[in-house]
Amino acid sequence: MTFPCQSSFTTILSMQVLDHPAELRARLTASLSAGARVGFVPTMGALHAGHLALVEASRAQTDLTVMSIYINPAQFAAGEDFSRYPRDFDRDLSLAADAGVDILFKPDDEVMYPSGTDAQQVWVDPGALGDKLEGAHRPGHFRGVATVVAKLFNMVRPEAAFFGQKDAQQSIVIRRLVRDLALPVQIEVVPTVREDDGLALSSRNVYLSPEQRKEAPAIFRGLQAAGQAFDAGERRPRAIVDEVKAELGRGAPSASVEYVALTDYETLDPYPETVDTPALLSLAVRFGSTRLIDNIPLLP
Ligand code: PAJ
Repeated sequence: MTFPCQSSFTTILSMQVLDHPAELRARLTASLSAGARVGFVPTMGALHAGHLALVEASRAQTDLTVMSIYINPAQFAAGEDFSRYPRDFDRDLSLAADAGVDILFKPDDEVMYPSGTDAQQVWVDPGALGDKLEGAHRPGHFRGVATVVAKLFNMVRPEAAFFGQKDAQQSIVIRRLVRDLALPVQIEVVPTVREDDGLALSSRNVYLSPEQRKEAPAIFRGLQAAGQAFDAGERRPRAIVDEVKAELGRGAPSASVEYVALTDYETLDPYPETVDTPALLSLAVRFGSTRLIDNIPLLP
């Protein structure tokens, strides 16, 4: 007799869910001594196809994929959406299992912040890189991200870790963390997964009202229009940024634009006159209290 949930139940059984680093080490030691390469996909849950693309990349490049789910309080500033961040562990569990995650690591606050976030003394400070773009609008965000990712790397000790292009600045900060602290992890960045209409998948898209959801594809249309201008030879930063703003003005009149920035891809500094290095075109807009980010690289 077959049961409707049998297949996903079986898959979940073959994925281990662990919540303590000691258990994780015990589980990984055997695989490591057998020569397995460990890939790592850190997430905050509320999984969607963007997260699953990271799992796919990890499975293609490594032998064993660990995903973590931890909503890191230290990367949310006061007044941000920490308390209302979407949480649906049962759904995450079956999505992760079906995607082929081998180990789901779900540490709690005691494990991640044994002294509590207020009493923790040692933090990973990403310096000026963490103060630009997103960091300018979310003070302390990248300190929280860099710290939790460093902790997770120490617990999982992966050979490779997978991040999304969607959060371009995050992946730049993490690459720098790895380089500056000599962490033995290879960082891989996976292209942004989008809805058919171009909207980048995000856990926060569920907050959009139907009207806002209709306007949101203007974000990627704007980025694409700017990308086309760039490909046609436009190199004046202001003109490229204005392409995005014009499309947002036309297609997303209810959005308020927090920033549209064209910066050097490595330093994240703006260009005084001409775009003459690999560049990042990035933006943040708000629909009511929902904040969306997106970006495209521009390569001369
Ligand atoms: P979270 O927002 O859950 O994202 C986890 C990973 O999924 C990140 O690397 C992010 O860039 C990637 N991702 C999100 N949307 C994507 C999309 N549409 N296409 C491709 N990749 C996408 O980012 C975090 O969590 C946290 O800051 C974390 C790194 C886990 C540290 O707390």
